[in-house]
Amino acid sequence: MDNRPIGFFDSGLGGLTSIPHIMRELPKERIIFFGDTARTPYGSKSPDTIRQFTMQIGDFLIKQGVKMIVIACNTVSATCVEDLRKAYPDIPVIGVISPTAKVIANKCNMNDHIGIIATKVTVKSNAYEQKINEKHPGLKLYSKACPAFVPLIEEGIIDNEIMDLTVKYYLDDFIRENQINRLVLGCTHYPLISDNLKRIYPELRIISSSKEVATAVHIELEKREMFAAEREGENVFYASDLSENFVNMIQNILGRQKEELNIRFKNLDI
Ligand code: DGL
Repeated sequence: MDNRPIGFFDSGLGGLTSIPHIMRELPKERIIFFGDTARTPYGSKSPDTIRQFTMQIGDFLIKQGVKMIVIACNTVSATCVEDLRKAYPDIPVIGVISPTAKVIANKCNMNDHIGIIATKVTVKSNAYEQKINEKHPGLKLYSKACPAFVPLIEEGIIDNEIMDLTVKYYLDDFIRENQINRLVLGCTHYPLISDNLKRIYPELRIISSSKEVATAVHIELEKREMFAAEREGENVFYASDLSENFVNMIQNILGRQKEELNIRFKNLDI
């Protein structure tokens, strides 16, 4: 048993989409979340910059006494999961891509046409293709970078025509030409537009990296016998820019009022 908190982070608010899954599955676990809202998006930045930001966040979470670090961001998982593991060898570091790739390899078959949508950095890394091929070679994989999704989501431009047009701009041809029947949300921001996706492409079957990372946390805690016996203290949600939008999104995603949530500002540059 281990009552220390679990540290989650993302480039912004996207990683929050994995938190309801954790709260449902593991209600005794205490969560420390950090969203780098001041520097989002990471998905079009260079690997060196992403690595530098990531190590700052890792150090911050370690100072909070976390028992595990969960990279609730595909872009960081594609870039520097091993750097974090080397820097903090005493605690488990879980990325989103391996667990999601495992589910894809298990659930999909040779008849599937699997579309992976993600940031530019994630697509360029080929991390999904590599991990899926290790487990299930020969699956038909097609990837597509959708760099405008994250800035629009961070701005709260979701439930409207602008987002629908952006979805169609990126995906209409991609889905038709490649006969995609399964769509992998390879960015933890994208569950926030899953209603748009389901409405526009009702026939698609969706796999979400946000849900799969929560399952991976459960499995890892069980394997290491690190479940919390009881919740010691409140969950805390840090952001490097406490914008109105971040606060609104936390309330929406977690279904609570801001007064009930412990939301704090933390600037990592200071
Ligand atoms: N949620 C991040 C991911 O899963 C978003 C990346 C970004 O900041 O561009 O890749």
